[in-house]
Amino acid sequence: MKDDIRFMGEMFRIINGALRLDIDKVRNYTAFLADKLEKAGDKASAARLRKMLEENDHQLRPAGAAFARALPVDSESRFPLIERVNVKGLSEPPAILSQEQWDTVNEFLSIAKSHAQADTAAISLLMYGPPGTGKSRLARHIAQELGLELYIARLDGLISSFLGSTSKNIRALFDFAARTPCILFLDEFDAIAKVRGDTQELGELKRVVNSFIQNLDTLGTQSIVIAATNHEELLDSAIWRRFSYRLALNFPSQDQRQLMWAQFLSPLQFQEREIELLVDLSDGFSGSDIREVCLRLQRRRIASQKAPELKDAFQVLQNMAIGEGAERRFLAGLRSKDEHAISTLLRQRNARLYSYSAIADLLGISKATAFRRAKGVA
Ligand SMILES: Nc1ncnc2c1ncn2[C@@H]1O[C@H](COP(=O)(O)OP(=O)(O)OP(=O)(O)O)[C@@H](O)[C@H]1O
Ligand SMILES: [Mg+2]
Repeated sequence: MKDDIRFMGEMFRIINGALRLDIDKVRNYTAFLADKLEKAGDKASAARLRKMLEENDHQLRPAGAAFARALPVDSESRFPLIERVNVKGLSEPPAILSQEQWDTVNEFLSIAKSHAQADTAAISLLMYGPPGTGKSRLARHIAQELGLELYIARLDGLISSFLGSTSKNIRALFDFAARTPCILFLDEFDAIAKVRGDTQELGELKRVVNSFIQNLDTLGTQSIVIAATNHEELLDSAIWRRFSYRLALNFPSQDQRQLMWAQFLSPLQFQEREIELLVDLSDGFSGSDIREVCLRLQRRRIASQKAPELKDAFQVLQNMAIGEGAERRFLAGLRSKDEHAISTLLRQRNARLYSYSAIADLLGISKATAFRRAKGVA
C-alpha cells in the first residue's frame, strides 16, 4: 500500500500541469519522478519515462536536458531573479539549535514529506533572527532532507533595483516554483517592506505586499517556500500570518557555543579547558562569527605552519569583537586595553574560569607575569 502512494505527489502534479497545459511543469515533474523511481529501484519505469521525455521534446532542448529549467529573469534587465544552490554534494553537519527549534524544523520536515504525497495546501516557513544565526544553513539542510533543489531569490535585488517590474518579477518567481520540484528560498525577505522607504509611495508597497500574498495563496497547493529575514519587525502582519511555520533564530547560548567551538575547531587541537574559555569569551557572538574565528585560525596555521595557540584565538576573537553588534559582545570591552585592565576584567567576570594560568595562556605571558599584571604590578 505504502508503495502505491509514494509517487502520488508527483502524479498529481503531472496531471495538474497537463490540465493547465503547463508543459514545463509536466516535464520537470516527470523527470523528477523518473529520478525517484530509479532511486526506489524501479530502473525500467525510470528509463521508460525518460524515453518518453526525449521522444516528445517538441521544444528541441539539447539531449540530456530533460530537466532543463530556464531561470526566471527580470523582465527589463534580463538578470536572473533566482539562483540555484547545489545541496546534493554538501556535507554540513546539521545546524546547532535548541530542542524547541529542532521540534519546529522536524515538524515542518515531516509535514513537507507527507505533503509530497498529495496535493494538499502549500507549506511555508518564515525564519527570522539576526545575521549569521543559521538561517541559510538551515534552508540548505531542509532542502537536503527533502531531496529537493534549493533556489534562492534575493529580494533586495529584485525589488530595489527594478521597482517598476517588481510585481511582474514576483509573479515570475512563483510561476517558476509552481512548475519545478524545488524549495523556493526568499532571502532578505524584509526587502518587500522597504519598498515604502524607497519610493515614498504607499501604493507601491501595497501592490507588492498584495502581490506576494496572492502568489503565496495561489501557489498554494504544491510548493515549499522558505523565507528569511533579519528584520521581522518590518514585515506586514498580513504576510507574517501567511506562513504555516515561523522559526526564531538567535545568538547561540553557552551550551550551543560549546558545540559550535567543538565542531568548527575540530581540525585544530584545542583542549577542553581552552574551549571552555573560548565559549565564555564568545558570549554575544553569532554562530557565523564563531565559525569565522575558526577559519581565520586555520588560515594562520597554514601561513605559519604551526598549530595556533590560545593566545592566537584570543587575538582573533578580540579583533572580531568590534564592529556591528559590538555592544552585545562581552569581549568588545577588552579590546585595546592593557594587560592589567584585561586581567582585572576577566578576574571580575569569573575568577574561577580566568585563573592566572588561563590569563597567562590567553595573553601569551608567563603565569608569574599574569599574576603581577592582575595585581597591577608592572
Ligand atoms: N546555529 C548554527 N549552527 C551551526 N552553524 C551555524 C549556526 N549559525 C551560524 N552558523 C555558521 O555560520 C555560517 C553562516 O550562517 P548563515 O549563513 O546560515 O546565517 P544567516 O542566518 O543566514 O545570516 P544572514 O541573516 O546574514 O543571511 C553557517 O554556514 C554556519 O557555518
Ligand atoms: Mg542567510
